[in-house]
Amino acid sequence: MRRRSGIALTLILFFLLSLLSASQLSYLDPSLPVAERVEDLMLRMTLEEKIGQMNQYLGLSFLEREDQKSADQMLSQLRQGLIGSFLMVADLREANRLQEIAKQSRLKIPPLNAIDAIHGHCLYYGATVYPTCIGMASSFNTDLVEKIHAATARELRATGYHWAFFPYLSVSRDPRWGRVGENFGEDPLLVSEMAAACVRGLQGDDYASPGRVLACAKVLLGDGQSINGLNLAPMDVSERTLYEIFLPPAKACVDAGARTFMVAHNEINGIPCHSNAWLLTGLLREQWGFAGYTISDWGDIERLVDGHKVAVDQKAAVRMAVSAGVDVHMHGSDFVEPLAELVREGAISEGRIDRTVRAVLGDKFKLGLFEDPYVDERKGGEILGCEDHIEMALEMGRQSIVLLKNDGPVLPLSRNLKSLLVTGPLADSNALVGDWVHAQPDKNIVTVLEGIEALVSNQMKVEYFNCGNLLEITDQSIDTAAAKARLVDAVVLVVGGNDNRSDESWELRFDRPNRSGGENVARSSLGLVGRQLDLVRAVQATGTPLVVVLVNGRPLAIEWIAENVAAIVEAWQPGMQGGKAVAEVLFGEYSPSGRLPITIPRGVGHLLSFYNYRPTTYLRKYKYGKTGPLFEFGHGLSYTTFEYRELQVSRELSGGGPVNVSVEVRNTGDVASDEIVLLFVNDVVSSVTTPVRKLKSFKRIHLEPGEQKRVHFRLSTDQLALYDVNMRRVVEPGVFEVMVGDLRGEFELESPPLR
Ligand code: GLC
Repeated sequence: MRRRSGIALTLILFFLLSLLSASQLSYLDPSLPVAERVEDLMLRMTLEEKIGQMNQYLGLSFLEREDQKSADQMLSQLRQGLIGSFLMVADLREANRLQEIAKQSRLKIPPLNAIDAIHGHCLYYGATVYPTCIGMASSFNTDLVEKIHAATARELRATGYHWAFFPYLSVSRDPRWGRVGENFGEDPLLVSEMAAACVRGLQGDDYASPGRVLACAKVLLGDGQSINGLNLAPMDVSERTLYEIFLPPAKACVDAGARTFMVAHNEINGIPCHSNAWLLTGLLREQWGFAGYTISDWGDIERLVDGHKVAVDQKAAVRMAVSAGVDVHMHGSDFVEPLAELVREGAISEGRIDRTVRAVLGDKFKLGLFEDPYVDERKGGEILGCEDHIEMALEMGRQSIVLLKNDGPVLPLSRNLKSLLVTGPLADSNALVGDWVHAQPDKNIVTVLEGIEALVSNQMKVEYFNCGNLLEITDQSIDTAAAKARLVDAVVLVVGGNDNRSDESWELRFDRPNRSGGENVARSSLGLVGRQLDLVRAVQATGTPLVVVLVNGRPLAIEWIAENVAAIVEAWQPGMQGGKAVAEVLFGEYSPSGRLPITIPRGVGHLLSFYNYRPTTYLRKYKYGKTGPLFEFGHGLSYTTFEYRELQVSRELSGGGPVNVSVEVRNTGDVASDEIVLLFVNDVVSSVTTPVRKLKSFKRIHLEPGEQKRVHFRLSTDQLALYDVNMRRVVEPGVFEVMVGDLRGEFELESPPLR
């Protein structure tokens, strides 16, 4: 009897002690250093709970839409502490709800919420939708890109997200690929600078500070030059091309502090990225010093089995991926169990798991989620689509537009026109918001027609003719458009493509009718889809002054238009304020300043077609038709003229010193305008072949009429390095040619080779 009461006493004591210690769990004490809290928490975690931190799931509403059973399973896993993060949480209410449910788990670890924020927090209703990345790249304005991403981070945090699946860092070398619009073009330096600016904007100096989020640079490594232009298809590129073209943007993101990386769907040279230990561990962690974590892309660990066929089953795939360096599994139920088994069997060490869990938990502590994981509904409402952000969307819209051709000049259109016809399948369309956008309130989006009407309809008669959607143009609508064109002073014809995946029902669908670009929409031809070209021809034949405005996410092979239509404006996908920006350009309120960040080829037969080609690329010509691009990287006209003069190139004293290049740029026209000054270098004779020119630096300046500025560049010798025959990075002596505007200069690096 005495013994029994002794046991009871011990139990009561133990219970009281555990109550006491629960209220004093060190990891819940915000006054302790993060590292200490992490270690304390990890000591309390089971293996499954640890692996749970590597387990990401699709948000609740998306799952429910798929099927209730998986939604219920997910909720049960969350209550068991087996889910570490979510992607595609529908809204801030759902974000709060998931945090509440996570609090019911044993250790109450808050989830991280991630979402694709490709050109703004666009998958969120009411958010600011900026121009897509190909347009942002055309601005060459990394400062504005950084500000836009700081604004995007504020919108994300205010709505319960902590992690942006962005920046995209692929170098787009094949315009058949549907995702060109999501990327920053074909030049490794431009992509690097843009992607790094996005990382700085999203994360700030410290991603743990208010209004900042974790950036997820993606993808390692691909996918801008697959063997056939299709998304997910293999990349088969030389080691040299990898190092010269595709790796620099990834390295730039590491240097900018990107906290996370997403792994690419594709294989490279026979090795799927998800099982590529050289890429994910050797290069990324060991060589480049990356200390964050990686996440698989959608379905890609599974794809090692059913796609790439390098693993016999999911367990083997998980083993390959985690051993190679994949840290977090993006969505799916088949991850925690196989990984726990692998650890128990000794195939993967618990230390390997701990490395990831430490990093993930550390971020949750730093972000303050253990203290307060919730968001205030009112705050979200105040920040989303606020005036400052919309103003930035408009400004980027203006700067992203590239004037491809302006014979006559037809542009800017006079405000004294009596009548204007606005037509084309994209004249009054939301296509100008691009891909990765959920249906947005109609009032938030200014179409080209609306922009024009708002600007000039009190001065002239603006007539709109709806000639049908991209694929719905008929003989009759073509005839009517032409008939109407004959009766007006000028025509604005808006054609191109539509990458938008959402419709009014909030369904996100890759296969939406009329979707001609974007993720998973590659093309085997690059002309205008449907009967758009017939429409352009018919309107052009009327002789009425015509401006073709292109709204599209990838270069379009518009050879006939380039040869026959006097004025062509490449608007890309200029975002929610895009129609206003286009209207301002058309009527001269804003002088176009964008430059092409990607070459526009004449057609698919001309691929690959990029500006930084090797010297023998065009020694021979195609038998029929022209050889060479339609519009090359860097092309872009203005309403003013700029004169470049007095190019000065000098080496700073003593061996190894940087090269100073400066040039005087003068606005010789009578319109104020921005000018993008591009500095190219050619290594004239080298031990391995090098491109005829490579972009080495760029600056965007503003010049009033008659104003001139000297623009300075400083090239380090390291920027002149090449990979030699043994793939060692060296700077070779000899003459280097410098190209700025229409000027050329040169300098010489002396022998022996500098490091
Ligand atoms: C996709 C995309 C990737 C995106 C992910 C999550 O498969 O390839 O870019 O981040 O899904 O939405």
